[in-house]
Amino acid sequence: MPFPSDTTPDTVVFDLIDREVERQCTGLQLIASENFTSPAVMRAVGSALTNKYAEGYPGKRYYGGNAIVDDIESIAIERVKALFGADHANVQPHSGANANMCAYQAILNPGDTVLGLSLDHGGHLTHGSPVNASGKLYHFVAYKVTPGDERIDMDQVRELALEHRPKLIVAGTTSYPRRLDPEPFKAIADEVGALLMFDAAHIAGLIAGGVHPNPVPYADIVTFTTHKTLRGPRGGCILSTAEHAAAIDKAVFPGWQGGPLEHVIAGKAVAFHEAAQPSFGEYAKQIVVNASALAEALVQQGFRLVSGGTDIHLMVVDLRPFDADLTGKEAQAVLDLAGITLNKNSIPDDPRSPFVTSGVRIGTPSVTTQGMKEPEMAQIAALIARALRHRTDEAELAAVKADVAALCGRFPAY
Ligand SMILES: Cc1ncc(COP(=O)(O)O)c(C=O)c1O
Repeated sequence: MPFPSDTTPDTVVFDLIDREVERQCTGLQLIASENFTSPAVMRAVGSALTNKYAEGYPGKRYYGGNAIVDDIESIAIERVKALFGADHANVQPHSGANANMCAYQAILNPGDTVLGLSLDHGGHLTHGSPVNASGKLYHFVAYKVTPGDERIDMDQVRELALEHRPKLIVAGTTSYPRRLDPEPFKAIADEVGALLMFDAAHIAGLIAGGVHPNPVPYADIVTFTTHKTLRGPRGGCILSTAEHAAAIDKAVFPGWQGGPLEHVIAGKAVAFHEAAQPSFGEYAKQIVVNASALAEALVQQGFRLVSGGTDIHLMVVDLRPFDADLTGKEAQAVLDLAGITLNKNSIPDDPRSPFVTSGVRIGTPSVTTQGMKEPEMAQIAALIARALRHRTDEAELAAVKADVAALCGRFPAY
């Protein structure tokens, strides 16, 4: 029987997809949590595996016909365990947020105390924001960055841990530009008898590529997303010690989720294979080199960087020294017009609201995938500054957009 779209193609949706691919390929993609995944990953995600129901785990499914899917999920599990040196892996979380909620459910009871980085100092919504289920279900206490150097205040983490005796300490960041050393978190967790969870959503690819310390030897649980620096399909993953394996699996299914997305799990398996190649290490190194180069070039253009720079794939830019009237919201909108995609971001203790902000967050994973290097980072900084300086001049913004397209044309993503 023919499918309806064989005879009545959905030109509306496919035209929009074509337009989005063009947008991605002709503009600069500087959102720190995005990347261009490989055609191989997209082939897996677009495969007939989407048809299969597979509630349960390899060898223990609630539906028949899962022999092949079992092989695929088992390969994903073994590959990610080898990549990070973990005892146990669950590759079923549909997203990073799900991975975190599942991890909490595995080891916490509602009302338990948890320490996490404050959202407005670089943490994530799932680290206890009052508008998120994490903040409603558990008693989160927030630690912050030190006002002077804008780096995570480990003395405060220890003081709060001693005061509140949390059951869990969460280390992990969304918009914090510095390396996050797992060892001091582990020392504090041990001192107060807490468990340690490391949310490596942003830096999983840097860890896999060997340019960021691996939290697996220190943390009881490591969660991450597969679509950011790791460059896989949109999804989440949980690693844990053997001790927490059964609780993690139970929390994912039947705790939080139903049928796993086996097409996405196949995409994760492909991404883990790619991340295990030596060339991925070169890629991860170049992401960081590019971020440093871009940070330096932005400072030369008159911007201030939160914490003075970056050691990872992202930076948070304080716009005020460049132009006191320029908000993150306006910068994001103006740069959109110029074909430069990034996001507004609060700076620590931002006087403006989270919807307006005084900063933007910039990341280099996507442009690095395209093959751009240090000289292009200087060009990108100049394009950003030019667009923002001439933000009321439509013709100049159109000229910047043309220059952006010309630059991206030299580094096609696909
Ligand atoms: C640190 C951190 N944890 C969790 C998440 C949630 O991931 P997702 O958007 O896939 O739910 C993010 C996403 O940005 C993140 O930065």
